[in-house]
Amino acid sequence: MPGNELHILPDNASLLQGTAEFLRDSIADVLSSKEHCTIALSGGSTPRGLYELLASRSFSADIQWDKLHFFLGDERYVPHDHPDSNFRMVKESLFRNRKTEPAYLYPVDTNLTPREAAAAYEQALRNVVGKDGVLDIILLGLGNDAHTASLFPNTDVLDEKTAWVKELYVEKLNAWRITFTVPLINAARTIVFLVSGASKAEAIHHVLRGPRNPRLFPAQLVKPSQGVVHWFVDDEAARGLS
Ligand code: 6PG
Repeated sequence: MPGNELHILPDNASLLQGTAEFLRDSIADVLSSKEHCTIALSGGSTPRGLYELLASRSFSADIQWDKLHFFLGDERYVPHDHPDSNFRMVKESLFRNRKTEPAYLYPVDTNLTPREAAAAYEQALRNVVGKDGVLDIILLGLGNDAHTASLFPNTDVLDEKTAWVKELYVEKLNAWRITFTVPLINAARTIVFLVSGASKAEAIHHVLRGPRNPRLFPAQLVKPSQGVVHWFVDDEAARGLS
């Protein structure tokens, strides 16, 4: 599919290494022409290993952390110390030591109501990226059901055309989520999917090889107005592409 660049690595370790190298180089590229780089991080479990690698000696010295503004592409509506919190996962992995103290790390304020939290997060984004909403880099994951961020199948947020951040109640999880919307994601300069494991093979097939049905397979909606979507996929997940 036009606009999708595949980076297929043999296993999880080489996948994380390749993704970390790409992100390191993408950040350096942005900072060669800008004072700051804005990055939205993915939640879930797959990226934890990537964040730990970026925070390690192999990478941390090559990244200008004090010039990076970090956001979360979505958040579970739980306290920041809750086991399900993406903010907690990021703090424990990417920002576990002082070497990687970022210029700014913007958590979602989950002390507010879901609607207020989404509005406040959108304002925090506007304060940093301005009216065009162009983030430099967005890292995304892919759920087994082909959701990305918290854009779940058959949810109204998939049709959002103007807001950048929305709250949604996810019936099947019995939980509130705060998520970037499709317009905000598609405004980004560089979009990177990180997909690992056999459990994602069917989802990636639907997204990249199957018929267009974005309400069922929301990651199909990720089609940036500028640039390419980089898919970092290991062999097990890439079985869905053969
Ligand atoms: C979240 C994520 C979500 C995630 C996918 C894949 O908050 O859960 O942002 O979109 O990327 O669900 O999650 P895993 O990496 O845990 O499979």
